[in-house]
Amino acid sequence: MRTFDFCFTLLVGAAVLLLVADDALAGRDFYKILGLRKTASKNDVKKAYRKLAKELHPDKNKDDPDASQKFQDLGAAYEVLSDDDKRKLYDRCGEECVKKEGMMDNTDPFAQFFGDFGFGFGGQEQRETPRGANIVMDLHVTLEELYSGNFVEITRNKPVMKPASGTRKCNCRQEMVTRNLGPGRFQMMQQTVCDECPNVKLVNEERTIEIEIEPGMENGQETRFSGEGEPHMDGEPGDLILKIKTVPHTRFERRGDDLYTNITISLQDALVGFTLDIVHLDGHKVTVTREKVTWPGARIRKNGEGMPNYENNNLHGTLYITFDVEFPKSQLTDTEKEDIKNLLNQPSNNRVYNGLRYS
Ligand SMILES: *[C@@H]1O[C@H](CO)[C@@H](O)[C@H](O)[C@H]1NC(C)=O
Repeated sequence: MRTFDFCFTLLVGAAVLLLVADDALAGRDFYKILGLRKTASKNDVKKAYRKLAKELHPDKNKDDPDASQKFQDLGAAYEVLSDDDKRKLYDRCGEECVKKEGMMDNTDPFAQFFGDFGFGFGGQEQRETPRGANIVMDLHVTLEELYSGNFVEITRNKPVMKPASGTRKCNCRQEMVTRNLGPGRFQMMQQTVCDECPNVKLVNEERTIEIEIEPGMENGQETRFSGEGEPHMDGEPGDLILKIKTVPHTRFERRGDDLYTNITISLQDALVGFTLDIVHLDGHKVTVTREKVTWPGARIRKNGEGMPNYENNNLHGTLYITFDVEFPKSQLTDTEKEDIKNLLNQPSNNRVYNGLRYS
């Protein structure tokens, strides 16, 4: 009994040791940190990072003593999995491998997604510091991107303030000063008073920002990158605001969450029915089958084949398909005319109306 106990303890001990050793070797599980599978695409990695960074930012988790560690883990997971070379290495032999190759930069990707100043927590606080101007830019996106979502990487030259030699006048303001002109006589005057600050200069730096085009985003919707706008010598830079501008599509038109498209069918198909496929914005096929007669201007609806809803991507609008009928251009022979008459047996309908459908 005793030996058995002892053996068992040894076994458990060895197992624990093995586990610990294994853990230390493998390093952090970056897939788990981002909540992703091994097969996740680069866009999935970006999407997961952007979502989790908003939740896990230490400013938002002041009560959690591990907040900054969790945020760092997230940054490291993004760094490795968003880079093809680092990811390959990581998949082969874990975090230690990437570190051994000297490939971990430990740069914080946060600014890339949200701008230098994060996202203004706690609403619009009254700021005393002067700010540079905001830059508003149109971001041209396709309907395909608005349907499936995408990340757009923008590289730009950003003027960044760097320390320079000497000092400069700063925080200048108007102050009233009083000068004693003699007994009982004073002069008040306004004077510009400045502080001496360490000198700075503007240096262009290449920066990359990542804009997420989320499925269902609307025309005119804005994404704000704080602190990525015009710099200000005595204060903070303004924001960069990117505004969605939808490029017109050749086949689909969007209204809200609904999509509209037109299809021209032949007169024959209009009369006897047809089956056809429409290639949707993400490449999937929508099959349209009609057995009834389809008249010019007829419209059918396909529920759930519209745009994804921005708030809830699982909800989709409706796809409206309007038919247009192409008549044969060739002339019919007398026998063919007779045949058609016999076949359709349709009385002449010579209703004259005003086109506005007043009855
Ligand atoms: C469909 O045709 C109508 C009428 O010609 C036109 O106004 C509309 O813009 C077309 N829709 C698309 C998506 O091309």
